Amino acid sequence: MGVSIVVVGSANVDMVAKTPRLPMPGETVIGTHFTIACGGKGANQAVAAARLGAKVWFVGRVGDDMFGEMLKRSLNEAGVDTTFLKKDSEAHTGVAQIYVAQGGENCIVVVLGANGRVCAQDIETAEEKIKASDCLILQLELPDEAVETAFELAKRHGVRVVFNPAPARQFKLELLNLCDVVTPNEKEAEQITGIAISNLDEAMKAASAFLDLGSKAAVLTLGEQGAVLATHEGVEHIPAFKVEAIDATAAGDAFTAALAVRLCEGAQLKDAVTFANAAGALATTKLGAQPSLPFREEVDRLISETLGG
Ligand code: RIB
Repeated sequence: MGVSIVVVGSANVDMVAKTPRLPMPGETVIGTHFTIACGGKGANQAVAAARLGAKVWFVGRVGDDMFGEMLKRSLNEAGVDTTFLKKDSEAHTGVAQIYVAQGGENCIVVVLGANGRVCAQDIETAEEKIKASDCLILQLELPDEAVETAFELAKRHGVRVVFNPAPARQFKLELLNLCDVVTPNEKEAEQITGIAISNLDEAMKAASAFLDLGSKAAVLTLGEQGAVLATHEGVEHIPAFKVEAIDATAAGDAFTAALAVRLCEGAQLKDAVTFANAAGALATTKLGAQPSLPFREEVDRLISETLGG
């Protein structure tokens, strides 16, 4: 059996419209394609980690509705254990409206629904599982109370935390002291560190700033430019894999999950980032969040075809 990972996070059903370009405020554009797919940062990370070979438990909430069923099925089909996925009859399942432009750039509006009702008690119910796991993965698409409780439990039991501070929003910066690795994208890194990022040097500075804020390591994702890894030993740029990108949705989720899986398997951070870059790149080659998340063989193949070995 693979490494064991608990993901505390959100689950959404995504309404995805493919469009020649993203609309301006007040503008209507005619899209070219529509699909409904399972998503949500937390659920995406859980499915991605399971497809990459980990044994995964997902902690979160969906509504008692058709979308909730759809998400549970998708998690289970990937092999994710949903014992701690609560069906909430007081709220609808989380939904996301996503526009994907030619070239893969997107913009997203999430209505949290049941995700917004995940509470400390939901997380405490999974304490024994968190305690026994190799890693806890967290994001920010849940209420602060839930995120903070998860951090506290990980700290109490000495469990490794990989934190994806997405979507960009205010949170207690002290939580970064409890992070083994933090995985922001450019926008999130800018918001958290206050450093504007328009080139690689600035990305490296921002990545280092996360160490000053308390994280043991930071991996700043840069889309088609790859990632920057900062540790107390130094800062380095790790280039991306070249693929035909059509939709960036969930690429960051695939990245975070892949990084966590390889770290739990005992890889060095740099190797784990290379593996995560490959998983993130592959996730951009298909439309939709969970349908795009790669399996282990695909990631291993891309790495060996590109880098050899
Ligand atoms: O990271 C991508 C995800 O963000 C989408 O699946 C959407 O549901 C939002 O949570």
